[in-house]
Amino acid sequence: MPNTTMDRSLLPKSLLFFMLFLFITTASVAGAKDPGHPLQSAMLPREEKVSRFRFYLHDVKSGKNPTSITIINGSASTPFFGKVQMIDSVLTEGPELTSKQVGRCQGFYAYSAQQDIALLMDMNVVFTAGRYNGSTLSFMGRNSMLYKVREIPVVGGSGAFRMAQGYALVRTHWKDNIGDVTVQYDVVVVHQ
Ligand SMILES: *[C@@H]1O[C@H](CO)[C@@H](O)[C@H](O)[C@H]1NC(C)=O
Ligand SMILES: *[C@@H]1O[C@H](CO)[C@@H](O)[C@H](O)[C@H]1NC(C)=O
Repeated sequence: MPNTTMDRSLLPKSLLFFMLFLFITTASVAGAKDPGHPLQSAMLPREEKVSRFRFYLHDVKSGKNPTSITIINGSASTPFFGKVQMIDSVLTEGPELTSKQVGRCQGFYAYSAQQDIALLMDMNVVFTAGRYNGSTLSFMGRNSMLYKVREIPVVGGSGAFRMAQGYALVRTHWKDNIGDVTVQYDVVVVHQ
């Protein structure tokens, strides 16, 4: 996948068909409802869009200004059940921490599995640059650390991402022995 950060002009054909499908189903549902009922029409989704972009999350635990801190210590050894990590991590366009900052990821992840290394992710991304500046996305779901590519659901959003639903495919891009890690997020969201 090319680095098409913050760009949805390069949608693959399947997504365009998905958008067309959404448009048709939305239109037919709208046609079936009583147009005179104000509550019903207010609740119907308006035109929906699909956005697709990539960013990198920097989980920095070392140094004087960590962006990721342990707020509850879990079991001392793998799978660290019970451990909770609070983050306010920088998101960048490219993989380097010095690359253009596009937002922050704020929330926590908790080691929630006893027989597996799996995290409960509960985090909000707020964009601080570009066309999505000020808009947010909410991530919530299971992050199974045993897989090279993990999938985290997007369960909501605000601003440009009102009514968002989608997913992120997540890959570890870089990590060191201290626990600092850079994670690549490839996000696809359907929103108003
Ligand atoms: C977790 O354990 C480490 C090492 O024992 C300790 O330094 C740290 O203060 C503990 N953190 C919490 C939140 O209990
Ligand atoms: C993003 O929005 C904030 C608040 O409206 C504004 O202060 C800031 O300059 C904007 N940043 C960019 C890069 O547009």
